[in-house]
Amino acid sequence: MKRSPIAVFSEWADLDKDYGMEKNHKASVENMLTFSTKKRTPFSFIDVGCGNGWVVRSIAKNPLCTAAEGVDGSKKMIEKAKSIDPFLSYSHADVMQWTPKNKVDLVHSMEVFYYLENPKKLIKQIYTDWLNEGGRLIIGLDFYFENTISHSWSDDCGISNMKLFKETEWCTFFEAAGFQSIENWRYGARENWAGTLIVTGVK
Ligand SMILES: C[S@@+](CC[C@H](N)C(=O)[O-])C[C@H]1O[C@@H](n2cnc3c(N)ncnc32)[C@H](O)[C@@H]1O
Repeated sequence: MKRSPIAVFSEWADLDKDYGMEKNHKASVENMLTFSTKKRTPFSFIDVGCGNGWVVRSIAKNPLCTAAEGVDGSKKMIEKAKSIDPFLSYSHADVMQWTPKNKVDLVHSMEVFYYLENPKKLIKQIYTDWLNEGGRLIIGLDFYFENTISHSWSDDCGISNMKLFKETEWCTFFEAAGFQSIENWRYGARENWAGTLIVTGVK
């Protein structure tokens, strides 16, 4: 029987599989962060579905980063993040029900949005309630229609409710939310791998 993403990722935290995700996602995340910090102006930052917090720890070292926090629905992941660095800010919450105390300039997320109950709704909420004017949302996805090798992942990993959208559909969610300057690209494509789909837009 398939289980919820939170149940599976909590087990992964216990099994230290979060370190494998960090390794596998690192190059795509670096591509995303390089793009979204290229203006070289100060920024505040949230990682949506931060797992063990590795991206928050990394971005917090950027001298232009004024504040960084992570949010994740798995209590085990957040406990792990806090145990690795107790001084950084991590919240345990379902992101569909969570709003940051202060709006930020950059909302980043890697390999999370297709697990959500309503990704289109969260993209709109981030636009309205999370981002400062001129702020950016950037998301990375390996599970999407054009990356055909990913289609079996729900069965392979035993995770329920994984939402398989096309590249154009993800872009449409950004447009519907009101984002401007929407850009999308695939990073790291190779044989049998369409690459990480990256979608971004500015408020
Ligand atoms: C594939 S992992 C990616 C973790 C991290 N972004 C990384 O790249 O290592 C997906 C993460 O999303 C979290 N997640 C899934 N659904 C969530 C939800 N509704 N609210 C908050 N976090 C969620 C999971 O707990 C898990 O840590």
